[in-house]
Amino acid sequence: MSKPVFVTQPYLPPLIEFQEYLKKIWDSKLLTNNGPFHQELEQKLCEYLGVKYISLFSNGTLALITALQALRITGEVITTPFSFVATTHALWWNNIKPVFVDIEPDYFTLNPDKIEAAITSNTTAILPVHVYGNPCNVVRIQKIAETYGLKLIYDAAHAFGVRFNGTSILNYGDLSVMSFHATKVFNTFEGGAIVCHDKSMKQSIDLLKNFGFVDETTVVAPGINAKMNEIQAAMGLLQLKYIDKVIEKLKQLIRLYRNGLKDINGITFMDDMPAVKHCYSYFPVLIDKDRYGKTRNEVYEHLKIHNIFGRRYFYPLISQFPAYCGLESALSGKLTVAEQITEKVICLPIYFDLHINDVNRIIDYIRNFTK
Ligand SMILES: Cc1ncc(COP(=O)(O)O)c(C=O)c1O
Repeated sequence: MSKPVFVTQPYLPPLIEFQEYLKKIWDSKLLTNNGPFHQELEQKLCEYLGVKYISLFSNGTLALITALQALRITGEVITTPFSFVATTHALWWNNIKPVFVDIEPDYFTLNPDKIEAAITSNTTAILPVHVYGNPCNVVRIQKIAETYGLKLIYDAAHAFGVRFNGTSILNYGDLSVMSFHATKVFNTFEGGAIVCHDKSMKQSIDLLKNFGFVDETTVVAPGINAKMNEIQAAMGLLQLKYIDKVIEKLKQLIRLYRNGLKDINGITFMDDMPAVKHCYSYFPVLIDKDRYGKTRNEVYEHLKIHNIFGRRYFYPLISQFPAYCGLESALSGKLTVAEQITEKVICLPIYFDLHINDVNRIIDYIRNFTK
């Protein structure tokens, strides 16, 4: 049996280069609290991503929770059911009621046509997700947010380096939240960030992630501890050196998948979106049982037999988990597109070290499964 192939695997830069960073950390004894690598990474990420201000976090979930705090969001927030649970959990941890709105059928992001009907007098913000790195319809969502006086926070956990119309996708909305978890294309073991557009917001966020401390004796807000440490930041600096190479490789692998799967009846996938520079870190495929002859779950199990571990991102929907399924917006039949996609989607393995032979094998398993 060949080695297991998982849906993703972190890119790890040469160990020897990481050891040089570790040596510096050991020498300085600066382990955390806005240390030199933390500062350097914030600056370098601003340059690389093309954003004004970034605030690093220990993980993306704490960054989401803090982003909602920084904008003092309360009441109800409109969000998508088609994401990783942390998107909605961040609302719950802030005592905010999530209001789920359906996704659009092409790229699975929040459907702007459905947002207005979900706005009530308690709505204070919209929390869409650039799911799989596919930019939301940022122009239309922005317009709705402005019309109704709502704040707009993007969960950009999947969207490292994604650009739309020549600018970073992170420049849209009031805040964008990133994840640098080990499963993400740019990883700092665990990690995350908030991108914002002005200095005073960056200062508020920095206070909130460090207990609310302004100086040794002044605490101005009930903040949390969500700081990124120096080892994480060092990893980030090293990752930045290799990120273009990593994304280019992922693009090639996705091209291979697309070519290999394109004429299989009942198997569909997304092409690149117009005016978008993608980061290619997910390869979701839809299985149409009626045309393909097998269900998505059958394909998932069939690949497992061959030691290939795709993931059913995002199944179940967040709105189907016990914590949220009782909400009115979560009721069955209200989120029809998301409910269909969640039954059909499987993300195939995609990562820097994935071998071309494995991609070809996966294509063959899918092609031959129904023969
Ligand atoms: C869409 C989305 N939001 C939020 C998160 C949470 O990020 P983290 O794992 O860094 O806490 C993740 C991933 O893990 C995610 O995929």
